[in-house]
Amino acid sequence: MKIALVGATGLVGGVMRKVLEERGFQNCDFIPAASERSVGKEVEFGGRNYRVVSVADAIAQKPDFAIFSAGGAASLQYAPQFAAVGTTVIDNSSAWRSDKDIPLVVPEINIDAIQDADRIIANPNCSTIQMVLALAPLHWEYTLRRLVISTYQSVTGTGMKAVNQLYAERAGQPCEKAYPYEIDLNVLPHGGNFEPDGYTTEEIKLVNETRKILGNNNIRITATVARVPSVGGHSEAVNAEFERDFDLDKVRQLLSEMPGIIVQDTPEKNIYPMPRYAKDRDEVFVGRIRRDFSNPNTLNLWIVADNLRKGAATNAIQIMQKLIEKRGITM
Ligand code: A2P
Repeated sequence: MKIALVGATGLVGGVMRKVLEERGFQNCDFIPAASERSVGKEVEFGGRNYRVVSVADAIAQKPDFAIFSAGGAASLQYAPQFAAVGTTVIDNSSAWRSDKDIPLVVPEINIDAIQDADRIIANPNCSTIQMVLALAPLHWEYTLRRLVISTYQSVTGTGMKAVNQLYAERAGQPCEKAYPYEIDLNVLPHGGNFEPDGYTTEEIKLVNETRKILGNNNIRITATVARVPSVGGHSEAVNAEFERDFDLDKVRQLLSEMPGIIVQDTPEKNIYPMPRYAKDRDEVFVGRIRRDFSNPNTLNLWIVADNLRKGAATNAIQIMQKLIEKRGITM
């Protein structure tokens, strides 16, 4: 089996290589691709060094899968070219997510959205993935009516330049800025770009992607995204109103039974999810589970996950693993 990784030199690309190794793909034909700037450089995979190739070279090798984490422009340009040679693309950018013909998939929730003929599959936004994984079992039982979301997003979600900015500021060194302000000892109420209505693109993604994955356009959703100086993962405070009332013990049970979810909710022992401890983990952690007494049928949750893992690399590779199973591809 041949796997191309487009964006192999990037921050998510590095985690993709790690997750591919952990999941037993180190003996596949591996084709790392990046921009022309990186062609000829080497990246490590499965204990070996591989030469980075151009995207055109990767397409010419007609891989079975191409996993993309190289930004929207590269996805728009190259994903259809891979699809045309029969490759299945799993794309981590936002380029294809809102296209009604492209499945947007969290495998535990809606793997069946992928048809046999589909050659481009969108991996959702990191903040969306961790939130819908926790909300799906509750939505199936009680039906979501409205969500009010506040995120506390890690600098790793912005890429390598942002991580470098945080550590350079901390060390008092000059650096290239990924953000318009200092990020160390600060919080920026700003993720993505501002739209004319005052919302940011990251906030709008949470609204549209959640509805698409849960298959319900009636859920009312509003979000505020903030960037915080953490590196281990994204945290989210989610206020969820349902059509029907719930029992808190049953909520905890539904969350505990959902694959990929770990409930960490023993407040009397100070046990709750935190990004530092979610780092390098594939699961989504849920805690601070409590009733909102100000509104009927409403729940408050605190949801944390490593945005580079379940929020990006792990989810994309889980999609590929499910497709290998479904399509009977031999490794
Ligand atoms: P390169 O390292 O050659 O710039 P990050 O999110 O950490 O900034 O990483 C982005 C990744 O996407 C890098 O691997 C980068 O390659 C790659 N990339 C960016 N633009 C393109 C492009 N037009 N074609 C292929 N790869 C690209």
